[in-house]
Amino acid sequence: MNKKRVEAICSMFVEGSTFLDIGTDHAFIPIFLLKNKHAINGFATEIHQGPFENAIKNIKYHNLDHRMEVKLGNGIEPFKHLQSVDYLIITGLGTSTIIDIIENSKNKFWDRMILESTNDVVKLRKWVKKNNYYIEDEILIKESNKYNFILRINNNRKTNVK
Ligand SMILES: C[S@@+](CC[C@H](N)C(=O)[O-])C[C@H]1O[C@@H](n2cnc3c(N)ncnc32)[C@H](O)[C@@H]1O
Repeated sequence: MNKKRVEAICSMFVEGSTFLDIGTDHAFIPIFLLKNKHAINGFATEIHQGPFENAIKNIKYHNLDHRMEVKLGNGIEPFKHLQSVDYLIITGLGTSTIIDIIENSKNKFWDRMILESTNDVVKLRKWVKKNNYYIEDEILIKESNKYNFILRINNNRKTNVK
């Protein structure tokens, strides 16, 4: 785990909020949010069996299974019935995958998104603008000798100031 990177992602999260983390892998981000950022509760999905099992194991190890639900599946699909969460988190994936995951969800039931693309951040920024969302905050981090942006995006078009 790159601790600095996880901390940077989680610094975008307002304490005491709820989240849905897509592509959770080892569930490092949910565990950090529940333990250090007072997240009320959380949901996460993972498309592959191995990482899904790692997530379940790590969450149980930290005794967080009563505050966290993880489902095996593609993107938001396993939690499409949710009414609302404060944050949708998609980090460590490529821009096209991030955009597909968001666009495939009919119901945009989150207020904000924390996104980190491993490639083509320009395309991600254009997509944000085209959809009338706006970037509230961003952090530049160095990961394996590569620079990546973590973006916090407001989903509420009414408060769009750009
Ligand atoms: C590089 S890891 C990033 C893990 C974590 N999000 C982070 O930022 O540290 C990407 C994870 O996303 C999962 N993944 C890829 N596409 C997905 C999708 N459509 N739905 C759910 N999980 C997905 C992969 O199996 C992998 O475990």
